[in-house]
Amino acid sequence: MALLEVRGVTVRFGGVTALDGVEAEVAGAGVTGLIGPNGAGKTTLFNVICGLQAPTSGRVLLDGDDLDGVAPHQRARLGIARTFQRLEVFGSMTVRDNIRVAAEVHRRHHRDGPPVESTTDSIVERVGLGSVARERVDSLPTGHARLVEVGRALAGQPRILLLDEPSSGLSEEETDAFATLLDDLIVDGLGILLVEHDVELVMRVCSHIHVLDFGRVIAAGDPGSIQKDELVRSAYLGAP
Ligand SMILES: Nc1ncnc2c1ncn2[C@@H]1O[C@H](COP(=O)(O)OP(=O)(O)OP(=O)(O)O)[C@@H](O)[C@H]1O
Ligand SMILES: [Mg+2]
Repeated sequence: MALLEVRGVTVRFGGVTALDGVEAEVAGAGVTGLIGPNGAGKTTLFNVICGLQAPTSGRVLLDGDDLDGVAPHQRARLGIARTFQRLEVFGSMTVRDNIRVAAEVHRRHHRDGPPVESTTDSIVERVGLGSVARERVDSLPTGHARLVEVGRALAGQPRILLLDEPSSGLSEEETDAFATLLDDLIVDGLGILLVEHDVELVMRVCSHIHVLDFGRVIAAGDPGSIQKDELVRSAYLGAP
């Protein structure tokens, strides 16, 4: 059974069909890609998975359990974490405090876990922000603020992490380090669903990719088959 399953999800906003019978899954530990042109429905699918958007029809299952009616904060407690395309961090707080707040919330519901301070420090280091840990987030470049968001998501000790364009704003070198971070996280058993326009990064880190276009999955498979897929090339990747 897959860790996360999306079954026949349709979302309509008035006359706009943002998602149309979407089937997708995250098998387990590993990085699964979700790519497609602007407006294809990627963020809307994230919103459905984490409970911020009720689907018009269809279901989302975690470990085979239907999440219908489960509120976003309860889904977070079940192990679904995400980052936002339009950054949502506490700008007036430091990098470390942003992550610590999430570690504290997690600790409240998991009293047997490691202490908040050590969890926070190890996550700050893990996402590569040790040198700016005491800086206010609004004083940092966007790319770093995105890493703060990833760190905050990790502080909830998720089983599945939804990343919405995490590498936008990162330099080439930082993107490389980010790919290494993703590789490390999946070794620890995390399932990651990655929305990303950096095709090189997607092809490097993903073992499986779903391609959305106008709310429909037009292809799914390993990076090699996706790169060769004619439909995907004309809809998104562009002709050679
Ligand atoms: N709350 C909303 N109300 C009405 N229409 C919406 C809403 N949210 C999204 N849409 C529409 O649904 C479609 C899918 O949008 P979505 O943001 O999910 O695309 P996306 O794949 O994340 O695009 P991008 O790569 O630009 O982030 C678009 O046509 C968008 O305008
Ligand atoms: Mg989006």
